Amino acid sequence: MDSTQTIPRQFRTAVVPAAGLGTRFLPATKSVPKELLPVVDTPGIELVAEEAADAGADRMIIVTSPEKQSVAEHFAECPELEDTLARRGKFDLLERVRRAPKLLEVETALQPRPLGLGHAVLQAESSLAADETAIAVLLPDDLVGSGVLETMAEVRRRWGGSVLCAIEVPHNQVSAYGIFDVAAATDTPDVLRVNGMVEKPAVEDAPSNLAAAGRYLLDRAIFDALRRITPGAGGEYQLTDAIALLIAENHPVHVVIHRGPRHDIGTPTGHLRAAVDFALQREEYAGPLRDWLLQRLGVGE
Ligand code: UTP
Repeated sequence: MDSTQTIPRQFRTAVVPAAGLGTRFLPATKSVPKELLPVVDTPGIELVAEEAADAGADRMIIVTSPEKQSVAEHFAECPELEDTLARRGKFDLLERVRRAPKLLEVETALQPRPLGLGHAVLQAESSLAADETAIAVLLPDDLVGSGVLETMAEVRRRWGGSVLCAIEVPHNQVSAYGIFDVAAATDTPDVLRVNGMVEKPAVEDAPSNLAAAGRYLLDRAIFDALRRITPGAGGEYQLTDAIALLIAENHPVHVVIHRGPRHDIGTPTGHLRAAVDFALQREEYAGPLRDWLLQRLGVGE
């Protein structure tokens, strides 16, 4: 018997907050939601949906603003397009077009105004079933590949509570990130207990070089905490304030250190890097791109 079948699932809904303004990607994001910008040929939102589905989610709630409803449309079936591709014998493209709608069930929750990430997550609560004790939250700006959420689910199964995800960053770059204050508390070096979090600390004040990456496995208690926090800078309700409240009330919070690849596709530089990295892994693009890059950079001339 497959042993994974006996492990209770820790979550079945993935919440993807996508109601932000995307100002770091202007002017592209004037009319195109950044979650639809393609990494090579696939919108970022599909890559995130694939990661969630691989981790066992069967439903994704995209939190959108009134202006960004088109993000969810990527998951609708397109019978006319599919018929045309089939008639033309373009079966590889047909396969790719059909992928997104098949990954998992997609719903939206509306965040009427961008009142912060914490407020965005809170909008998903009313869509959850009564027996859902935890949710996964995936920030679509961060691409971490498959595997991390599975490890986080295993940590929640063993220690309960909520589980966050961190990447190691160079010490001199800590002031660009939310940095974890941690303590060893488990038998696994890459799983630590979280005592707190500091937003963008000065290098000398940073409690570690572990930066928050956009994956969270949150106990349902997060919604109650989100209702009890007050807005911070810019009038935004911060998810980290609600997590800090849970920690102060002795709710167990652990962090899993992710050591695999990670891309921040919320900025043009990070997005470009991701596109090059992904293209170099695709047989149909890798060869010509590599040759062009070497020539462009004058390598080997
Ligand atoms: P960010 O602040 O990093 O992204 O929010 P942003 O607001 O979209 O982009 P910039 O900073 O203006 O360039 C992190 C995540 O939280 C979502 C964003 O869509 C993003 O996925 N978010 C943020 C919301 O859904 N609602 C909000 O009110 C704020």
